[in-house]
Amino acid sequence: MNMRDIIAKKRYSEELTGDEIAFFVKGVTNGEIPDYQTSALLMAIVLNGMTDKEMTTLTTEMANSGKINDLSYLGCKAVDKHSTGGVGDKCTPLILPLVASFGIKTVKLSGRGLGFTGGTVDKFESIEGFNVNVDAADFPKLIESNGMVISGQTPDLAPADKILYSLRDVTSTVDSIPLIASSIMSKKIAGGANAIVLDVTCGEGAFMKDIDQARELSKAMISIGKLAGREVVCVITSMDEPLGRNIGNVLEMMEVFEVLQGNGEPDLVEAVTTLAAHMIKLSDAKEKDLSIEEIKDICKTRLSDGTAMEYYDKLIIGQGGLIHSTGSPIYKDYPAEVMRLTAPCDGYITKVKADMIGNASVELGAGRLQKTDELDYGAGICIYKKIGDKVKKGDAICTLYKGKEAVIDEDRLEKAAELAFDAFEYSDEKPEEVKVVLDVCC
Ligand code: URA
Repeated sequence: MNMRDIIAKKRYSEELTGDEIAFFVKGVTNGEIPDYQTSALLMAIVLNGMTDKEMTTLTTEMANSGKINDLSYLGCKAVDKHSTGGVGDKCTPLILPLVASFGIKTVKLSGRGLGFTGGTVDKFESIEGFNVNVDAADFPKLIESNGMVISGQTPDLAPADKILYSLRDVTSTVDSIPLIASSIMSKKIAGGANAIVLDVTCGEGAFMKDIDQARELSKAMISIGKLAGREVVCVITSMDEPLGRNIGNVLEMMEVFEVLQGNGEPDLVEAVTTLAAHMIKLSDAKEKDLSIEEIKDICKTRLSDGTAMEYYDKLIIGQGGLIHSTGSPIYKDYPAEVMRLTAPCDGYITKVKADMIGNASVELGAGRLQKTDELDYGAGICIYKKIGDKVKKGDAICTLYKGKEAVIDEDRLEKAAELAFDAFEYSDEKPEEVKVVLDVCC
């Protein structure tokens, strides 16, 4: 068997055998296949797709390229969540404490941000002292004391995906349903959960640009889950505008703290409570027999009555994070305003393009263009106007921030301001109301 023949087969849209896919994944993992051959096969997959059988084999081989976690120490059904990536997506820091309050124990292995989507690990790492590099041997102890643990992905979790993803990122081969589905599901299967809720983001700020693509990706991941013996529910959420108000590491964690005080933006609260409700429905918590709407109502109460905050404090303190006497976490840096942008005309906001806002926050230093880039934790954007809001010329639409301790490059600030300003579109007519939860597939 050789890679040249495998690439040629996929180039002519022939179905690869299980042995050929296993040969490819093993060769990628042990470094025997050169990047140029891997990249050529990835591009052939992007162009010619994969059958369900090929996609499932690819996923299983990628999951088995490393260790499969055993979560039996949780003592309950293990339910995980994952997002396909968004702008302003701070759902995980809210969902973990929320579901912990129902007795659901979660081991959440998260990634860092690359490009315009933020990473959960970076957000938690913006808290002074918080340890995101937890040794897997310490997971059971943290689960026992706090009910949850959040950690960066260990190198032995689906290592084939790590290698493939970094190549895809630089060869323009990320946007492919079989490659995205196998990448996500291999990590989730290796993570050891019995049931998985996937937040499939959809819109200009997401990989899936429209609802049909989002449904197709959901169908692919549900079918992989079925064959791998995992229950999967996909919640399709809109990424036509950023979620909530704040984008950037500390800014997003500050917004999380606001939500836990009962002051959440409606779209963020809706996304968080819907995702949490589906996790609870899949769990063995006693509330699983209630309807989704009933569970969401309990979640909403727990976000505002201090219950979720209590569990959030446990998570932060339990992993070494420092908390101020006011109750707020202490951050590594704080946002300092550098520029406020205003509306150029009267009208209604019709778009706040999430990808442009995400790219603007990367220019400010909140995200990375390359893996080695240093983050400015305090950098980011706070948006004041969302789709459907009425504005008058001169009203503030958003503020750009840098970290207090950071130095900002003037050219990058100018680029960020241009992107953020152009992200907003206006009309004299009020646009249709935008829903954050677009569909649920299972
Ligand atoms: N998230 C992943 O983990 N993998 C992809 O391919 C895309 C989004």
